[in-house]
Amino acid sequence: MRRVMADAEVGDDVFSEDPSVRELEEASAELLGKPRALFVPSGTMANQLGLLTQTRPGNQVIVGQGAHVACYEAGAGAAWAGVQFAIAGQRGYFSADEMLQALTPTSPHVPKSVLVCLENTHNHSGGRIFPQADVLAVSAQARQRGLRLHLDGARLWHASAATGLSPRDLAAPCDSVSVCFSKGLGAPVGSALAGESDLIEEAWRFRKMLGGGMRQAGILAAGALFALRYQREALVHDHEKARTVAGILTQGGLEVIEPETNIVMLRLQTPAHELVAACQKQGVLFFAMGHDLVRLVMHRDVSLREVTHAAGIIVRCQRELVPLEP
Ligand SMILES: Cc1ncc(COP(=O)(O)O)c(C=O)c1O
Repeated sequence: MRRVMADAEVGDDVFSEDPSVRELEEASAELLGKPRALFVPSGTMANQLGLLTQTRPGNQVIVGQGAHVACYEAGAGAAWAGVQFAIAGQRGYFSADEMLQALTPTSPHVPKSVLVCLENTHNHSGGRIFPQADVLAVSAQARQRGLRLHLDGARLWHASAATGLSPRDLAAPCDSVSVCFSKGLGAPVGSALAGESDLIEEAWRFRKMLGGGMRQAGILAAGALFALRYQREALVHDHEKARTVAGILTQGGLEVIEPETNIVMLRLQTPAHELVAACQKQGVLFFAMGHDLVRLVMHRDVSLREVTHAAGIIVRCQRELVPLEP
């Protein structure tokens, strides 16, 4: 990947003159079944462009519990698009009925619901897959009421690898889709927003306003394209690692949320930050997602042998901690 990046043909992408960026955008659009895609620095920017292009200040956006776009983008949705969020369902998933319950009535007294954001796979609930039958049901109900749909597909590649459905099929019910080439796919930088041509034209302008126009960005795009072409197939191995880790932790007496893709969530009886600190001392690095919740992410740079070893360390560290008060 580094070699491909070093050899990339580049131009000034602020003037749409970078051939490597064009190639990545065309390949992404094709893979996602949308007319156009736009290369952006991060998943956060891709999601925010999804909001900026499909809402107006004061509008309401319906999201699942723990949605990245609402909870982990530093309040950007409120700051830039000026939207407010309504939560539907639980643990990132919602049914069509739950989406309808979160809708505001048509009234000048309440914010207007205009957009539904789905997240597949869902980060905060542990890489959970949004079942495609439900995506279709939500989409059908949303469309009947004139709402648009944005898909936060930062890890859509994992949903595709686990279900066997193509990224194109997964994205089809949605007007816009954001994807990340970093994270599990393994590129150092980059995301894309895909959708109809006029939506992407509008997103291009907002990207400029947010300072996301990058000049010889082809160096980054070449890495992203390499990841897209050659590193998607291996994602299933990360899912296998997650199942192995989950098995070891369960046997070790820990409460594991059954992994569906590459993320293992642990619900603890001890403070999460203490387990994080104890394991860090042993060279095992992961994240606290709440006072009693931790997130372990499998990726291409850790082997099955390494994650198996790490899981053993987690079990041993956990045994030495004092349980939380009930
Ligand atoms: C579901 C989801 N969407 C969007 C993002 C944002 O991506 P980035 O960190 O590239 O801004 C993340 C990051 O973890 C994520 O998990």
